[in-house]
Amino acid sequence: MNKRTTSSTSSNISTSSSSSSSRRRRPRKEENDTEHPQPRNLCRAKYFLLGFSVATILLTGAAVTTTYGMCKGVLTSSSCRIALPTKDRQRTTPKRKRGLLSLFREKRNEEIEPGCSHLEPKEYVCQWIRHSLQEMLSNMPFVRSDNGMSDQPVNVAATTDDTGNHQPRPKTDFPTAFTPEALPLSPHQTSLIEDLGQQIRTVVPDWEERVTEIPWGGPRNDAPRSTQWWAPASPSTSKTTTPLKQLDGGNLLFSYLRIMNWPQDLQKVYFPFKACKKQGCPAPFALNHTLNFREIYQPWLVTPTMKAVNAKGLVYQQGFSPSLDGEHAPHGIVWLRPGLVARLDEVFYARTLVRELERAVALSMEQSRGRVGKFNVFVSGKDFSFGAMPSLRGVKAFVTILQDHYVDRLGVVLLADMGRICEILLKLFLPLITEEVRSKIVLVPHDKNERQAIFETVLGKDNIPTWLGGRNDYRFNVDQHYASDDAIYGTDVQATEYLSLMPYHS
Ligand SMILES: *[C@@H]1O[C@H](CO)[C@@H](O)[C@H](O)[C@H]1NC(C)=O
Repeated sequence: MNKRTTSSTSSNISTSSSSSSSRRRRPRKEENDTEHPQPRNLCRAKYFLLGFSVATILLTGAAVTTTYGMCKGVLTSSSCRIALPTKDRQRTTPKRKRGLLSLFREKRNEEIEPGCSHLEPKEYVCQWIRHSLQEMLSNMPFVRSDNGMSDQPVNVAATTDDTGNHQPRPKTDFPTAFTPEALPLSPHQTSLIEDLGQQIRTVVPDWEERVTEIPWGGPRNDAPRSTQWWAPASPSTSKTTTPLKQLDGGNLLFSYLRIMNWPQDLQKVYFPFKACKKQGCPAPFALNHTLNFREIYQPWLVTPTMKAVNAKGLVYQQGFSPSLDGEHAPHGIVWLRPGLVARLDEVFYARTLVRELERAVALSMEQSRGRVGKFNVFVSGKDFSFGAMPSLRGVKAFVTILQDHYVDRLGVVLLADMGRICEILLKLFLPLITEEVRSKIVLVPHDKNERQAIFETVLGKDNIPTWLGGRNDYRFNVDQHYASDDAIYGTDVQATEYLSLMPYHS
């Protein structure tokens, strides 16, 4: 379980920690070899290792830049894929394939396509380098995460299977983009949900009172019952009942326990990651933590500066992904176009995003009558420039909020129109992210048919906006957007109070 949350933060963290840990590890080894190390030697060794590391990083950087320069244009424009040596294919057992290597499974299993015969030697070399890098990264031992999740169906991210027609892809290709109305519960899971529900009400005596004030989408007079954050058990005679709805706080507790990997011992779990990765925490901690967050941060607030950040349509919830056949439990769609940020203010940037995600959960809850409550995110890389990029610190703070408080609410992320640099970097770093998160990221290929097929499946034919070549002519207007009935207004001062009241998130 800790493995999964450990690396579900951004790739930056993984890379920096791996390089610093290797730096730290080596001197320790020397200490073991010589029983009484001379301080001066140790010091010299330290400088040597530091220099060595810097040199390595510089050299690697230079090599990557050169390769990139040489292969620019070749890597993404060619539709040809090259199979890796067959030796590797025999080694690939079904189990491994399903885990980490699944990301590149399609490519791996293919022979050289007819389309490759036209390749120039240089192009061939570039393709080979690309696949080798992917291979290398996906084989690194520290990258592998073998946890309970690996028996899940995998997502075929970034496949370029060119069938030449506009058929939508089967929904089973995107297992996390759709959620069934009723999830099956094992007796073990049921008893864990009951246990945790009992524990949280014991350690937070005013729990039941406080949770009514923080429904999904925020507290307002006409908030639908289905948007309760903590829903009391509903009678088994209700028409929309599910095993989860018959348990107090079932929907909520299910998501937390799932991310905790259904622990045997509720007294020691390693979630939330930032607070509990080392020592572990009792499971109710995570729920108390989110209760505090929702009361203090008030993720539903709309403020003047948020409107300024979102003036051009940086982010908005609009429409719903299709449901599974015959069901009605859609994920809300959140459209994110980082290139359209009108004002870069980190705290309010994050708030603007969080508010849309919060709203998407609320609307999905409402649509599904309290059974699902999830969102799918579409990210467009169009017009994105470095000037539109939030700082790493801002990104980390945002990721922490999502990880800690929007537990298991993310369906799938579609990344489209990514620039070439972004795309190559992503392909290199995707293997560093945990399977849990990675299996939810789909890099939409440039191929028109394939792209259309993915959009139709995940977003729904009628939801594809005109700016993506679809027929949904919704035009974002900032005033109209925040004028809807469910908008809850606040001041910019209120919006920043959390920085001092909950320093954990600042
Ligand atoms: C819940 O959170 C509050 C605020 O941080 C804290 O004072 C309290 O001790 C926590 N309770 C439990 C049981 O963790």
